Amino acid sequence: MKHIIVLMMVFMATAAATFPAILSAHDVPDGAAPYEKSKRCSACHPAIYRDWENSMHSKSSLHKDPAHKAMYEVFLSDMKKEGKEGSYHCASCHMPMAENIKKLMDGTDKPNENLWREDEGVGCAFCHRVETIVEGKGRNMFTINKDGAYVSSNPPEKAPHGVGANPLLASGEICMGCHSHLTNQSGVAICSMKEEGKGNCLDCHMEKKEGPPSIESNKNDHASHEMGGGHSLPMLRKALSVKASVNEAAGGKTVDIEITNKTAHTFPSTMPMRMAYVKVVAYDAQKKTIFRNYEKNPMEDKNAVFMKSFKGGGEVGVPAWKAEGVAVDTRLKSDETRTFSYTIQSDKIKTLTVEVIYRLFPSQAIAKYPALKETEDSVNDKQFAAFRKEFTY
Ligand code: HEC
Ligand code: HEC
Ligand code: HEC
Ligand code: HEC
Ligand code: HEC
Repeated sequence: MKHIIVLMMVFMATAAATFPAILSAHDVPDGAAPYEKSKRCSACHPAIYRDWENSMHSKSSLHKDPAHKAMYEVFLSDMKKEGKEGSYHCASCHMPMAENIKKLMDGTDKPNENLWREDEGVGCAFCHRVETIVEGKGRNMFTINKDGAYVSSNPPEKAPHGVGANPLLASGEICMGCHSHLTNQSGVAICSMKEEGKGNCLDCHMEKKEGPPSIESNKNDHASHEMGGGHSLPMLRKALSVKASVNEAAGGKTVDIEITNKTAHTFPSTMPMRMAYVKVVAYDAQKKTIFRNYEKNPMEDKNAVFMKSFKGGGEVGVPAWKAEGVAVDTRLKSDETRTFSYTIQSDKIKTLTVEVIYRLFPSQAIAKYPALKETEDSVNDKQFAAFRKEFTY
């Protein structure tokens, strides 16, 4: 199938949204086979279904991801303060199968948790019925096939349902449909994986995993559909190569740390609120802290924080919809190495820990946006250590 890029006209925002409005949405075309529930695929593709069920793609909808819901509520209340009514334009990526997607995106309809197609998130039938990616200025959209065939790069001759070929899946281009090209009304790039990333997403995010791809297959491994990222500790632990060493220095010790980003994109990636930071703590024999690279807030040691932060209206740390530009971007680029050195003046060091901590949301954002607080327990208790090493003397 030919990959057609249809350039769309993008209108500047109406009163309903602060992201460029969308003229077309990835509807199922008129007269086309309807979407099937992902649950229906589970009977014959059980291993892949289990992966997907545990992935953030199955939980991406407003009704299943509390963090996404909280941010959407912050967005709505910000719009209200400006006398506007916010639309659920987030649907194009978070609820791509919704039947009323156009109306959700232009604000005519509100999300409704009783509609199964909203609940599906990024379901099986969505990715496997993509025909083309429609590249837009503010964001990308997709077209969905009419015949309802499930596409892959190299479809089998026989299957109990229609199958078809589409090279956009195996090349990873399909991922960029949602994971790149998000620009807000002021023209600020919110997510630009295509410029920041390289390589094929499938190499790391869809590695081969045990279990046949379907019940009638004679293969015993399949392309993993877990597609882990910030919510997956095993995945986070693959992101960095960290070398830490402690050397004797006059009157104490020097800690040298070298961190390299092994992913094919920035670390942290795409979602602008992600952050990671280095934490170094030294204790004496009584477990009393004698050194920390920051007291309370990791920002006290700015160099050791990896994050991107937007500015707008004279403020720093504003959400995507208010961004007028980038205030700081200290994320690690792919393959980039950064080094840190701390000298601790003490002869009492007994243990010393070096950690790289990852947070889905910074505590400053939670403090600023009360709606995010609801997710504090579910999301922010995961002060994931992407790396940890302890030295004892
Ligand atoms: C009744 C059983 C059954 C159901 C239900 C089913 N499939 Fe399949 N599917 C198969 C079989 C069998 C094959 C062929 C497998 C083979 O030859 O390796 C297949 C092949 C495929 C392929 C091509 C895989 C490849 O190797 O390239 C895709 C994609 C696919 N199915 C997606 C889906 C999706 C998405 C759903 C749910 C919306 C679904 N299937 C529901 C049985 C089923
Ligand atoms: C162009 C596609 C796109 C649009 C539009 C979009 N998002 Fe997202 N969003 C994503 C992708 C892709 C991710 C996952 C990226 C990542 O984890 O870095 C994500 C992740 C998130 C997360 C993190 C969720 C978590 O569990 O940690 C939040 C919160 C979020 N989006 C909120 C929103 C809100 C609110 C809107 C609408 C105002 C919106 N997004 C619109 C693509 C989009
Ligand atoms: C985010 C997009 C996405 C979603 C959601 C998704 N898939 Fe896939 N799937 C892919 C890509 C990409 C491939 C690799 C295709 C290729 O090689 O052409 C693939 C491969 C497959 C294959 C062939 C696997 C193999 O190892 O031979 C099957 C079967 C399949 N998917 C079924 C499903 C089912 C069933 C679901 C839901 C439980 C699902 N997919 C959800 C993108 C997706
Ligand atoms: C239809 C839009 C869409 C497509 C296509 C898509 N994604 Fe996503 N993806 C999302 C959204 C939305 C999220 C965030 C869900 C959330 O956290 O609420 C996400 C989350 C993720 C995450 C983060 C998971 C985590 O643990 O936080 C990874 C990794 C990812 N996707 C990889 C991929 C890859 C690889 C492909 C291509 C095979 C792909 N995605 C295709 C919309 C999409
Ligand atoms: C060389 C391996 C590699 C390749 C290739 C790769 N990634 Fe990743 N990616 C990772 C690792 C490791 C992580 C975990 C670190 C993290 O979450 O920041 C990750 C994280 C992510 C996340 C989660 C970010 C978050 O905020 O939760 C998304 C989304 C993502 N990748 C999308 C993609 C897309 C899209 C592509 C293709 C352009 C891609 N990745 C290519 C290794 C890779």
